[in-house]
Amino acid sequence: MPWPRYRGVLPEWEACEAACGRPAPKTVRTFPSRLPDEVVVRRLSAQGFVLEPLPFPPHVYRLVREPFPVGKTLEHWLGYVYVQESVMALVAHAVVERAEPKVVLDLCAAPGGKTTHLSELLPGATVVAADTSQRRLRALGSNLQRTARLNVATFRADGRTFPLGAPFDAVLVDAPCSAEGNVRDDPRVLRDLPEATRRRLSRLQEALLRRAVRLVRPGGVVVYATCTFAPEENEAVVDRVLCDHPELAVELLRFPVPHADGLVEFSGQPFHPQLRQAWRVYPHHMDSGGLFLVRLRRAGGGGSEAAADVPPLVHPAARLSEAEASRRVDRAVRLLTDELGVAPVHLQKLRWMVASRHLWLHRCEVWPASRWKPSRAWELTGCGLRAFARWGRGEERPTSWLVQWLGDRVRNRVELEPEQWDRLLCGQAVPTSAPSGFVALSLRGEVLGAGLVRAGRVRHLIPADRAASLREALHLTGAR
Ligand SMILES: C[S@@+](CC[C@H](N)C(=O)[O-])C[C@H]1O[C@@H](n2cnc3c(N)ncnc32)[C@H](O)[C@@H]1O
Repeated sequence: MPWPRYRGVLPEWEACEAACGRPAPKTVRTFPSRLPDEVVVRRLSAQGFVLEPLPFPPHVYRLVREPFPVGKTLEHWLGYVYVQESVMALVAHAVVERAEPKVVLDLCAAPGGKTTHLSELLPGATVVAADTSQRRLRALGSNLQRTARLNVATFRADGRTFPLGAPFDAVLVDAPCSAEGNVRDDPRVLRDLPEATRRRLSRLQEALLRRAVRLVRPGGVVVYATCTFAPEENEAVVDRVLCDHPELAVELLRFPVPHADGLVEFSGQPFHPQLRQAWRVYPHHMDSGGLFLVRLRRAGGGGSEAAADVPPLVHPAARLSEAEASRRVDRAVRLLTDELGVAPVHLQKLRWMVASRHLWLHRCEVWPASRWKPSRAWELTGCGLRAFARWGRGEERPTSWLVQWLGDRVRNRVELEPEQWDRLLCGQAVPTSAPSGFVALSLRGEVLGAGLVRAGRVRHLIPADRAASLREALHLTGAR
């Protein structure tokens, strides 16, 4: 074990040391709402992967054999799996356990491991996902599109000053940290952190947690997680917040997973006795990375206040009238029903949000942002699926994300052979007998994206980077 300072607090030192010396097995999480686990397992097994389900959390599989990176499979490209450390899949369960939150805030969300999981576990809830980093927000956006998360709205915002005014049923703080728990993947975390960096991190973590406590409604839940062992970033942070907030209590987590208790003392510094109920999951416990996890309940009654505010039709930053937005939605619906052949029943219970360049299709039922003061400090960056995008001078086209999510519900499909897909993805038009207009493009009956037929030839509308990775996922090598 690399950190002698943890020797006195780590009960199974040798087992932990041995686990840290081995590479961690890769694990994936499935999305049963999208495709049943047995189908995902069958499809990956057919390509030589061997998957072993974990006893807990559900829908997490260890890749016992990975003939090539799972991130390069079609199943990953289509968003049926998310590569996530098994231990990290405990976090979303800690948010939803013994609670039925209707509106959840993920305060440090990118690139989206926990957001996609929360959205899957809470299909009827609205998940608000925030992060400060533009670059990481882009990764979050692409993961949310790939896995078709219709109940997630994303915001660029600093979690320390996240707008108040709309209480959440649950808030997750998956805090930036020194990531010591990633030692099996990244030996750089072995370097001793300079004191000043540790102090800066713990100040940031404390500010995020303090904001989360102000953002949760009475009776609601705050979950604080890091992937580090350092007590300065874990118990010490929660201790200071607990001492200032007698209305908070640590709640016991009841997962059937081995773990160590939270610390009530480190290097002579005592911590709040309730912190014994926090969880420390060391690498040997789940043969994974490390995790610190604690669930706090804010005292007080009352149920969710979430029902009041519904999402607007017009994106808050768009300079558009409601009438113009409605016209664009009507056009989009006509295109979906008349051109792509989607039955109107499939568009029920969905909401639209119209932005300058995009039309978003989503299932967010409530809208905390309507209670926030307008400010440059926060910006709505996405809401559900980016369903239509403006091209050139204004023509609106269905995106591949939308068509892929609709899948079989699109009647107007053009089925192509692998060799035709190869030409298509290399930028060539492929002859077809389909009439002109937008279509879904499929391979062996599975819809992979949107296409446009003109004069007896079809082209794909898949973004260039996605087309390149699709070519790789389909093992196409011929046409170039
Ligand atoms: C541990 S990562 C989150 C991982 C993510 N929850 C997941 O499961 O994929 C911490 C995140 O906090 C973000 N972050 C750092 N400072 C922040 C702040 N002041 N407010 C909000 N997010 C912040 C980072 O950009 C980073 O994406």
